[in-house]
Amino acid sequence: MRQEGHRRIHREPAQIFTFSFGPHFCLGANLARLEARIALETILPRIPEWSVDEEQSELTGGIDTRGWARLPVDIP
Ligand code: HEM
Repeated sequence: MRQEGHRRIHREPAQIFTFSFGPHFCLGANLARLEARIALETILPRIPEWSVDEEQSELTGGIDTRGWARLPVDIP
């Protein structure tokens, strides 16, 4: 059961539609994942301390995709 303020990191993976599915599955999905991993592996060691300002964060409003319109990060 989902609890406010908790993340279930051991949950069963859900079907994710970020890159679509079926015959039109994104041809660049592996490149996009590789780029994201390299970006995070490059940036995160340089900024060991950070936190998300959850009060100032805002989800996008659409019903088809889910993401962040604003996700400010505090770096001390
Ligand atoms: C985070 C990055 C990306 C996301 C979220 C994403 C998402 C998607 C989605 C949802 C589709 C399906 C569109 C549809 O069915 O109408 C798609 C298709 C496609 N994507 Fe991506 N994409 C990303 C990056 C890339 C990159 C880096 C490339 C190429 C270098 C790429 C190439 C393509 C191509 C060629 C298709 C058409 C596949 C087909 O219709 O057979 N995408 N992408």
